[in-house]
Amino acid sequence: MPILDLSIDELLTTTRTVRKRLDLTRPVEAEVIAECLQLAVQAPSAGTKQSWHFLVVTEPVQRQALAELYRKGWTSNQAYIKQRTAAVALDEKQASMYARIAASADYLLEHLYEVPVHVIPCIQRRSEQLPIIQQAGLWGSILPATWSFMLAARSRGLGTSLTSYHLFFEREAAEVLGIPYEQVMQTALLPVAYTLGDTFKPAVRKSLDEVLHWNRW
Ligand SMILES: Cc1cc2nc3c(=O)[nH]c(=O)nc-3n(C[C@H](O)[C@H](O)[C@H](O)COP(=O)(O)O)c2cc1C
Repeated sequence: MPILDLSIDELLTTTRTVRKRLDLTRPVEAEVIAECLQLAVQAPSAGTKQSWHFLVVTEPVQRQALAELYRKGWTSNQAYIKQRTAAVALDEKQASMYARIAASADYLLEHLYEVPVHVIPCIQRRSEQLPIIQQAGLWGSILPATWSFMLAARSRGLGTSLTSYHLFFEREAAEVLGIPYEQVMQTALLPVAYTLGDTFKPAVRKSLDEVLHWNRW
């Protein structure tokens, strides 16, 4: 697969959440997904277990079912979603950024079933009842690989976003996909498609000063 001419720093700063610029008509080859996952499993995982699994969904019926659960997650949890965003005091710049994200998120909501590939990173164990150290081990054993997948995808002209709303109905999604829910936890749903154009800008973020602590909080 051709690799985009990006420096490592460019790759790290321009791997963005892509929703509106997903090419919904161009097929994605199974090989490119496998290549990205091959790179992803070089990520660290706690201990030596490598308890990760990646479910790649291309069947239209399954994608439709996931998109419906995603929508149900979104619509039936508006109070929770609003309360989470309302908890943050926004200045004008941030408010306009959130408005852009909301419009982009709405677009994905409408088009998720059309995105040619959905990747669901899973971990073999459930975290609900675990103490924080073990939760950290579980989530920390899948998210680095997930992000590596997203970086590898970007380097090959693919766009992704890390989404979670279908997890409000994780059990139903497990049934759709034949995942053994009691033993395996889904951690996200990554819509994957080639991007329309391949130039992306770094995101606006809080200044590092606001979040960086040297030696003490
Ligand atoms: C853990 C996690 C869960 C997310 N869930 C969703 C989601 O369900 N739907 C969605 O549209 N975006 C989701 N996002 C994306 C964020 O809401 C936000 O739009 C994104 O991180 C901003 O994009 P940027 O990194 O390109 O600035 C999620 C991001 C993270 C890290």
